[in-house]
Amino acid sequence: MIQTAIEASREAGAYLVSHLGKIKTIERKKGQETNLVTEIDKESERMIVSRIHASYPEHAILGEEGGRLDTDSEYCWVIDPLDGTTNYTHSFPIFSVSIGIQHRGKLIGGVVFDPIADELFSAEEGSGSFLNGTRLHVSETDTLINSLLVTGFPYNVRENPFNVVQHFQQFLMEAQGVRRLGSAALDLCYVAAGRLDGYWEVTLQPWDKAAGIVIVQEAGGTVTDFHGKPTNFQNPNTLASNGKIHSLMLAVIEKSL
Ligand code: IPD
Ligand code: CA
Ligand code: CA
Repeated sequence: MIQTAIEASREAGAYLVSHLGKIKTIERKKGQETNLVTEIDKESERMIVSRIHASYPEHAILGEEGGRLDTDSEYCWVIDPLDGTTNYTHSFPIFSVSIGIQHRGKLIGGVVFDPIADELFSAEEGSGSFLNGTRLHVSETDTLINSLLVTGFPYNVRENPFNVVQHFQQFLMEAQGVRRLGSAALDLCYVAAGRLDGYWEVTLQPWDKAAGIVIVQEAGGTVTDFHGKPTNFQNPNTLASNGKIHSLMLAVIEKSL
């Protein structure tokens, strides 16, 4: 299954790169002025789903662009065919393809592909995380002042859900630096790779984080909700870290929950 996810993400990633700067239609989702979707997102998902179903026709699918298919299968593929659509529409070269695999509702594997950097992150439960075949480990940083953090903002950020603006301000004051890359799946993979020490974001969707959660955990990191409880798709608020700064990050978030 991981091999199929790798092939599907590479194929979709090549398609994304070949169409960069050639978008024909940009629509707004759910009436939200900044929540974009293009024909490229949809075609990428179509390609991924068709590749998966060629090997596993009976498996269920949860895809961002409506590729929802409930079946009797114990397996479900959770797909973000283009994570970082806003970046993509500006030809800003940070975006990815994310494919997570669930068995009986539990995440057991994931692949995130950055086609610009040609970086393929993958993990299977119990077998570690890898970047282009090399084993990944989270960082050893144990103070916030030495931590490089990353976050993202939901499309309804103007409503300041869960005090997202206050959290950002607080982390700016306490960390070495805070980044905003624009692809939640890559944010998680960068924590797994030790490039970043921690990541938080409110109201993530299952497809934003399915693959990234396994990749962080298998690299030795910790992923929870904003109360330190195990993360799941029902709780959209997500905190991922190298484990060493997890309680420090929780304490910052709890100041303004
Ligand atoms: C978005 C990106 C972004 C995050 C948003 C997501 P999309 O996904 O992951 O980094 O901040 O919350 O919705 O819409 O580009 O697939
Ligand atoms: Ca996404
Ligand atoms: Ca997307």
